[in-house]
Parts: sequence; C-alpha cells; structure tokens
Amino acid sequence: MESGMKAAYFDNNATTPLDPRVREAMLPWLGDLHGNTSSVHSFGQAASAAVEEARARVARLLGTSPPELVFCGSGTEANNAVVFSCARSTDRPHHLKHEHHLVISTLEHPSVLAAATRLEGQGAEITRIAPGSDGRVDPARLLSAVRADTSLVCLMLANNELGTLQPVREVAAGCRDLGVPVLCDAVQATGKIPVDVAELGVDYLTIGGHKFHGPLGAAALWIRAGLELDPLLIGGGHERRRRASTVNVPAVVGLGVAAELAAEELPERARMLAELRDRFERGVSRLDSVAIHCADVPRLPTTSHVAVAGVQGEALMIRLDLAGFAVSTGSACSSGTVEPSSTLLAMGMPETEALSSLRVSFGIFNTADEVDGLLGAFEREVAALRELAPAAS
Ligand SMILES: Cc1ncc(COP(=O)(O)O)c(C=O)c1O
Repeated sequence: MESGMKAAYFDNNATTPLDPRVREAMLPWLGDLHGNTSSVHSFGQAASAAVEEARARVARLLGTSPPELVFCGSGTEANNAVVFSCARSTDRPHHLKHEHHLVISTLEHPSVLAAATRLEGQGAEITRIAPGSDGRVDPARLLSAVRADTSLVCLMLANNELGTLQPVREVAAGCRDLGVPVLCDAVQATGKIPVDVAELGVDYLTIGGHKFHGPLGAAALWIRAGLELDPLLIGGGHERRRRASTVNVPAVVGLGVAAELAAEELPERARMLAELRDRFERGVSRLDSVAIHCADVPRLPTTSHVAVAGVQGEALMIRLDLAGFAVSTGSACSSGTVEPSSTLLAMGMPETEALSSLRVSFGIFNTADEVDGLLGAFEREVAALRELAPAAS
C-alpha cells in the first residue's frame, strides 16, 4: 500500500465500522454513566431506562413489541441459545427429551451448524438440506424433511458468503401448519433489507449490531410471545430470566441507535449499497474469465461473490490487502492448507472454482471512488497472479 493512502474496507459482512452517530450515543455510558439494570437504585434505574429505550428501537426495526426481545452478547450466542433450548424444551408434548429431530440448511452460519452437530453427538437426529446451484434452499425440499416430531427448523434470511436471500416466509408457513418452530438467523440481513417478524412468520429471529454499523457485543434474540426459552446463560435474573449476565449497557444503547438509524435510512442505504455493488460487478465482469455468483437470484445489496479463473482467491485477497483493499474469501486455512468453503461445495461448485472465489461486501461508508480504486487493484493483481501461474489460467 502506498504511504499516506487510506485502506479501503470491503469486508462489511464480517463486521461493519461503527457509525459515529452510534459512538456518540454510547460515549456517556463509557464515561460518567454506569449501572446494572437489575439494581434498584437510581444508577440502575437509569441503565434500565436506557436499555428499555434501546429495546423499543430494535422492536420498531423488526416490527415487534419490546418484551419479545432478549439482548445477547452476539449473534452466535443468540443462535446457540435457540438451538440448544429447542432440544431441551419440554413445553410441547411431542418434544421427547432424548429424541430430537432438527432440520437445518447447510447454508447456515457455523453458530447454527456446530450447535446442531453437538446435539447430534448427544443423540439428536439432524436432517441437513443443501442449497441448489443458485445458492438458495428449495422450500419444498426443506419442508418435505419436516416431521410432526421435529423440534426446530433453521433457515437463515440472507447467507453471509453469497448474500442470497432464502425462502423463509414459505418455509415458516409450512412449518406453522405442522406446529414446528422456525429459527431465522437474520444477522446478515438486518439493516440491509426490511426484516419484519410478523411478515416472515417465524418463531425465533436473531440479529447482531456489529453487522449494521452498531457495536460489537450487542445482539438481540426475538422470541414469539408465548414461546419459552430455556436460557443458555443462567444465574441472574437479567432480561426477564431469559439471559443471565449483567447487561452490556453501552453496547445495547449503541445497538438501539444503530437500529433506529437503519430503520430511518433503509431505502436510501439499500439503493446506495446496490449502486456500489453494481459498479464493482460491472467493472469486474469486463475482466477475462471472472464469474459473478448468484447474480440473478434475490440477494443482499451488500454482497458480491466472484470467482476468478486460474487465480487462488486467498492469494488475490492477500495481494489486495497489501494494495490497501480488504476483502475476504470463504475458505478456511487449517494446518497450512486452504480448504474451500463448505457453503460453495454444498451448492455443487467445483473445488477449483470455490478456491478461486472472493467475497467483496459493501457498507454505508464505502464510496464510488473506493470501488474504482478496488477495480484498478483487482485488474492489476489478477494480471500479476495469472502471469505468475499462466498454466493454471
Ligand atoms: C449469518 C450470520 N449469523 C450469525 C453470525 C454470528 O454473529 P456474531 O459474530 O455476532 O457472533 C454471523 C457473523 O458472521 C453471520 O454472518
């Protein structure tokens, strides 16, 4: 990266920069203000009032009422809480303690996949539904796996790698007829597209503040009124006994403001994000042998997923980073070897194409100039890598 040049961040699906307006709202709670929401004195009451204001703001964003929301520390925690709770639930007659059946899409985030795998190790039966080559789960296929004794169905609203939107509404409607609860992981979708719990018809929904310019450390779990949650964290009576632990007031205040800003600015944000994404995709599609994945299916305006033939995604990502542009790959590096993304393999993508993929994810603070800079670097670095390994291209 040239000295004096500011790095441009295109990894907003991993985490987003904090909105300065959110930071402003949090600062008093990192300064003079402090209190435990469970304390009865004035400090505790002030903290509690701030948290309840945040709860009302998040409720407005999701079209629900505040008491149905539980604040958590992360999207992972919220997803884990629902998956484990449903396996333990005894409030429905067909939920036998030692016999659980879960239906999950293989597109789910590891916080759902790994929780389900742990339950499997404890005797649960898991049915995993892979997406089609378009990065979307077929709702009929998923519903055909649901049984009367299924404890939980997990289908995310938007996939973090590809940005593809999933048929949550159709799946939830089918599950409602069978009396089977649905968890919708909306962590990646919230703040980018409208998310309305009533319209989706799900039973549990999770969001995370740091994915839409709120702080790390604050997430929310929405639970349909009347449903129980067997808490993951136990001990104190916080969050109406659904999540023990002193509430992270500064982060929750930030989540509330981020939710309010997202609700106010959603149409404008979606428009400008799609413009940035389209600008990038128009540029890369002019290069030789670059494929844009899932371009024709409904997807988030934030996410562009491309494969560059003959180029290792990991190598391109590192060269772009050195040139001042942060992007990501969905591959995992374990013991020195790069493994292709399991999401892409589950779609039926060949391993070589999966390994040559990159994710570029946009946020509200990106600019068209940054996109043009990225395109220039992309072209240069792809050419350099192809020159280094011409046989592979
Ligand atoms: C779809 C999805 N669900 C859940 C999570 C987990 O959220 P957190 O990082 O807050 O634990 C992420 C984060 O990448 C995500 O993209």
